[in-house]
Amino acid sequence: MIPPDFIQQLLGRVDIVEVIDRQVKLKKAGQNYSACCPFHNEKTPSFTVSPAKQFYHCFGCGAHGTAIGFLIEYNGMGFRDAVKELAESVGMSVPAESPQAIEQAQAALSLTDVLGVAAAFYRNQLKQSPKAIDYLKGRGLTGEIAARFGLGYAPDDWQGLKGVVADYTASSLVDSGLVIDRDGKRYDRFRDRVMFPILDSRGSVIGFGGRVIGEGEPKYLNSPETPLFEKGRELYGLFQARRAIRDTQTVIVVEGYMDVVALAQSGVENAVATLGTATTSNHVQKLLRVAENLVFCFDGDAAGRRAAWRALEQSLPVFADGKDVRFMFLPAEDDPDTYVRRVGKEQFLSDLAAAKPLSAFLFEELEGQADMSSEEGRTRFLSLARPYISAVSAPALGMMLQRKLAERIGLGLIEIQQLVPTAGGRDPSQRPGPGPRSAGNAEGGQPRPSRDGLPQRRKVLRDPPATQLIVRMLAKPQLAGRFDVPSHDGDTSPTGSAYRVAAFIRDHDFEVTQAMVIEHFRDTPDQPLIAHAAAHPLLTEIDTEHPDFDIDAEFDEALARLRDQALADAEREAVMKRAAELGLS
Ligand code: UTP
Ligand code: MN
Repeated sequence: MIPPDFIQQLLGRVDIVEVIDRQVKLKKAGQNYSACCPFHNEKTPSFTVSPAKQFYHCFGCGAHGTAIGFLIEYNGMGFRDAVKELAESVGMSVPAESPQAIEQAQAALSLTDVLGVAAAFYRNQLKQSPKAIDYLKGRGLTGEIAARFGLGYAPDDWQGLKGVVADYTASSLVDSGLVIDRDGKRYDRFRDRVMFPILDSRGSVIGFGGRVIGEGEPKYLNSPETPLFEKGRELYGLFQARRAIRDTQTVIVVEGYMDVVALAQSGVENAVATLGTATTSNHVQKLLRVAENLVFCFDGDAAGRRAAWRALEQSLPVFADGKDVRFMFLPAEDDPDTYVRRVGKEQFLSDLAAAKPLSAFLFEELEGQADMSSEEGRTRFLSLARPYISAVSAPALGMMLQRKLAERIGLGLIEIQQLVPTAGGRDPSQRPGPGPRSAGNAEGGQPRPSRDGLPQRRKVLRDPPATQLIVRMLAKPQLAGRFDVPSHDGDTSPTGSAYRVAAFIRDHDFEVTQAMVIEHFRDTPDQPLIAHAAAHPLLTEIDTEHPDFDIDAEFDEALARLRDQALADAEREAVMKRAAELGLS
């Protein structure tokens, strides 16, 4: 774990312009820098880098982030590696809180080595174990696929690794999760199991899953979390699937190691698996960066359906317009492994093409929980759907869901937009797209408020107050001093997010850049809203000193609206009841 303070210091030292310019040549344009966007194809530059905010943003495709984020997105680096590389570039070293931690940091380097050695050992052992080979053959795998995934076998031996590592007493063996110390004895974690190495984005081994041969408990034994291996971020098979994902622009998410391997065996090479954990929004974000289409394909049983619903919940806040998220439901007795082996590649691909769109899954599932033939039922449906639709930050998707909701319950779109505002605002046309407007801006210098920018700015003012407050605190951190809302810590609402942003800025004596705020909230529940605010079209146009706009007054206005919101929420309930009573349909 890198201390958060270090990240903040690092972001204070690094200059994002230099970092990006090393890889993408930037041209000065007013106070900012611009280039043709490295994340999508374009002829006129809409990619802007702000030295003041230490933030990049593309008006064309919406890509945005900090210097750390850039290395992660552009170079496909892990978070730690990105931080390390940046630190080295400015002569800092990722600290170590204690001498013990320094030792750990050095050992971390050798963790990769020791895991690599173990993987080679297991691969070798597989060749010598007829029992393990038979098991894999029995599951339909060829040697070629076993080699592609580096499958191995951990022998039935308490200290099998002793023969291959230089020093069986080394602490890196424990730290990498390969051996266990108990009661003064040291022994191999994985024994008599088929081994699935887990690779990072560069193909280095970071952990293992080991399956018992035949029946036994636990069925799979996994590496513990280590400095190299964070389960909520990693996906099994992503390294092997990269090319196929790029070619098909589709990634299939399954639950099991064997599902990934069996799909590859059948010629479906673009599947990845979560590692015995539920899908996180981090997973979804990571995958939507590498593919246009995401299809969840979970087991056909009730647990698989629950997992799919959870994946839907995690997808809503990070879904981006233009992407496609779908759900493929298998027969109850199948998982992707058994299904693809039973029906074959062609049938699997045609089922995949017919997978249920996210919106259809959302509506069908919720309609199943309400009686759509009565007014009460439809009102209930509205309250069930509201939190899901509100979570959407992609403007076009949000709009489409609102429209669909309006049709289903027989209210007008305007009414629905009042009852169920989305995190992404209401009108997709209010965002600058890759059209002539943004291209013109980038060419003519940094985007700045102008007379014709004004109407757009006013429209943006209709965003929910918490979003507005965050947008303005990012533009002008001093505003956090005015945020006098009582503690909302532990409150997961947008107001809670705004509260935490304000508190963070105050805790740092208002000396923060936008980048510092973003990185502080990485992987927290506040991340989606803050990322949305950071990429807000308004933010690139706010000039805190511009005479046309009184950002302080706007902040106060939004703050007043936030205070009124509790009231408004109560009123909204009343309106819904009334709508149902009147039978508005
Ligand atoms: P499943 O129980 O669905 O197994 O677990 P599976 O993938 O179909 O495995 P096979 O086909 O019987 O070999 C799905 C995933 O959950 C995690 C593993 O990541 C597994 O791939 N899991 C499952 C564990 O971590 N431990 C377990 O004991 C079981
Ligand atoms: Mn299975």
